[in-house]
Amino acid sequence: MNKQPIGIFDSGVGGTSIWKEIHALLPNENTIYLADSKHAPYGNKSKERIIELSIKNTELLLEKDCKLIVVACNTATTSAIKTLRETYIIPFIGIEPAIKPAALQTKTKAVGILATKGTLTSNLFHKTTNLFAEDITVIEQVGEGIVPLIESGKAQSNEMKSLLKLYLKPMLDADIDYLVLGCSHYPYLMPLLLELLPKHIKIIDSGEAVAKQTKAILVQNDLLNTRNTNPKLQFYTNGNPEVMASLLGNGHTAEYLDF
Ligand code: DGL
Repeated sequence: MNKQPIGIFDSGVGGTSIWKEIHALLPNENTIYLADSKHAPYGNKSKERIIELSIKNTELLLEKDCKLIVVACNTATTSAIKTLRETYIIPFIGIEPAIKPAALQTKTKAVGILATKGTLTSNLFHKTTNLFAEDITVIEQVGEGIVPLIESGKAQSNEMKSLLKLYLKPMLDADIDYLVLGCSHYPYLMPLLLELLPKHIKIIDSGEAVAKQTKAILVQNDLLNTRNTNPKLQFYTNGNPEVMASLLGNGHTAEYLDF
């Protein structure tokens, strides 16, 4: 039994969508979530800057004695996970857009992906797309403006609805039957996406896969916390704790921390 917490960080509150999957699968684990909202969005920052910010977040989680770190951000994964794995000895779990399952299951041979500029222009994304979606039309769309709206508590606003209509149009024109959410903030768009998309279009994200991978790596490294019945769940943000608490729901609270 290992009581050390699992550390999770994101450029903001979006990765709480990943935390929910991790907590559902691993309810005994103590967790510490860091939302670097002050520096959001990461999506249009340089690779060097994203590495710098990811190191800052990692150092803080290590100070808090984390046994494993989940980089709950597609952008930080594509830019920084290699450096993090080379620098620190604990295991790191990353998140990548679920292009593979979409490409394997599409019937119309067209899938849409909504992600940040950082993710869509990364080598890792191109490698995965070339490998699994070679004979498929992939409609890529940068979700410019979505993360700042979610960070300011406007996930369900009219402003967001207008942006999404604009971003989904080319995908609908191309007859996609899968939409891949390539950013951990985007699961919070589900109510609007369900309203705007025809029913036959399936929406997939990577949350469940990340949780399963986290469990597998904990088991493999003998780090699982099996007997804890009262886990300590800590949520820190250098942005607005109320926005974070409202996305977490279930009476969870978030604390302001300057980092
Ligand atoms: N949640 C981050 C991701 O998954 C958002 C990136 C950003 O801050 O632009 O990519």
